[in-house]
Amino acid sequence: MLTRIAVLVSGGGTNLQALIDAQKSSIIKSGEITLVVSNNPDAYALERAKNAGIDTVVVNKKECNGQADFEEKLITALEENKTDLIVLAGFMCILSENFTKKYADRIINVHPSLIPSFCGKGFYGLHVHEAALSYGVKVTGATVHFVNEIPDGGKIIMQKAVYIQDGDTPEILQKRVMEEAEWKILPEAVEKICKENF
Ligand code: GAR
Repeated sequence: MLTRIAVLVSGGGTNLQALIDAQKSSIIKSGEITLVVSNNPDAYALERAKNAGIDTVVVNKKECNGQADFEEKLITALEENKTDLIVLAGFMCILSENFTKKYADRIINVHPSLIPSFCGKGFYGLHVHEAALSYGVKVTGATVHFVNEIPDGGKIIMQKAVYIQDGDTPEILQKRVMEEAEWKILPEAVEKICKENF
């Protein structure tokens, strides 16, 4: 049986697109994306899911009665879908220990740096690349890791390095890290986990 994958998103969804494409080209063959959940009703990722014929659910955090209510609604959607593996792909909400314990070893995340650099609370999206450039590191990259109660603190599954180049801006670097690292290691890690852990 194929591992049922739910992808949680908040924005543009280029990592979701990489997963959809990897499924089409059989890089992902031990699992299938059965649901896309967004906390943001305007996320372009929802269009990508619809174009690929994947069910979508919006759980708008702003309309929820706090973190517990938000997570309860997420859990309801995941249970109805019979999700095995949760993939955070540009999902910009922190999940509580209550949630991460319930899905121990069943949630993975892609982060746009080489953890343990430039990670944890406040390091998300473009901020990560701003921090890498202002520190002056010469190498950055991306990490896929399991999610536990510590933000970006779970066991590392895969990493890929990306060189910084003269003239990089946070936007240019973000694009290079996505193209050279995130869009490759996220599908590879998903296939590995589907194959080995389910
Ligand atoms: C990606 O770079 C992802 O690694 C990052 O946000 C971007 C989402 O882009 N995630 C985090 O920073 C999480 N801490 P996408 O919506 O196009 O996939």
